[in-house]
Amino acid sequence: MAELVVRPALVADVKPIMTLVNELAVQQVMLPRSPASVIENIRDFVIAELDGQFAGCGALAVTWTDIAEVRSLAVRPALQKGGVGRALVDALVADAKRLGIPRLFAFTYVPDFFAKMGFTVCQHEDLPHKVFNDCTHCPKFLACDEIAMTRVLDAKASPTRLFGKPQRAIPLPQRTPSFSGPEPAKSKAKASESQRPQTLRQEPQQP
Ligand SMILES: CC(C)(COP(=O)(O)OP(=O)(O)OC[C@H]1O[C@@H](n2cnc3c(N)ncnc32)[C@H](O)[C@@H]1OP(=O)(O)O)[C@@H](O)C(=O)NCCC(=O)NCCS
Repeated sequence: MAELVVRPALVADVKPIMTLVNELAVQQVMLPRSPASVIENIRDFVIAELDGQFAGCGALAVTWTDIAEVRSLAVRPALQKGGVGRALVDALVADAKRLGIPRLFAFTYVPDFFAKMGFTVCQHEDLPHKVFNDCTHCPKFLACDEIAMTRVLDAKASPTRLFGKPQRAIPLPQRTPSFSGPEPAKSKAKASESQRPQTLRQEPQQP
């Protein structure tokens, strides 16, 4: 029986990674990677070898303290459905747990495979803004047809850490109280003022 090993990638693996990922990208089953993006992020990658031969790759891209992406997951076509993909995902999950990351996500065309890996489908909108930074470089930015999926690794992490708006990676501007609408009327004079058309007017801040 062939020996399956999953190990961290080396720079010598850049070429087989590029060849496999871009061969599959031409078939429109995953997104392409540039040489620079693989080389610069080589520490994200794990490599699967069957009897010492390159069999596939996958990467864990840390997006923020609470979320990381499984990306560039690829198994050589002749070796698919033999457990290599699962072994790669298991290694990426172990790395995410080592780092203390409570949640993973993936954008994919193979939701049934990711479902077997414990992921569930979510709305793109459920993911924090930061995960979409790289999307602006994607040719499909204006017509994304990939399915968003997520997997919770640390069920004990607080719901806000896993899903809450406080984890929004790019904080929204804080709104001052005067932006949230008129104050309740306290006197006749104030009530009549509140009936005037509202303009967005910033009150001086109290120290
Ligand atoms: C998706 C991919 C990585 C899966 O790798 P793999 O080595 O074939 O997967 P495994 O053999 O480990 O399969 C694990 C389980 O998922 C199932 N599975 C694998 N591919 C599947 C698919 N396309 N659809 C549904 N189930 C699938 C297997 O049957 C197996 O199920 P089991 O545990 O009940 O036996 C591989 O098919 C691939 O490289 N595809 C092309 C690139 C791609 O789509 N990458 C994903 C980018 S997000």
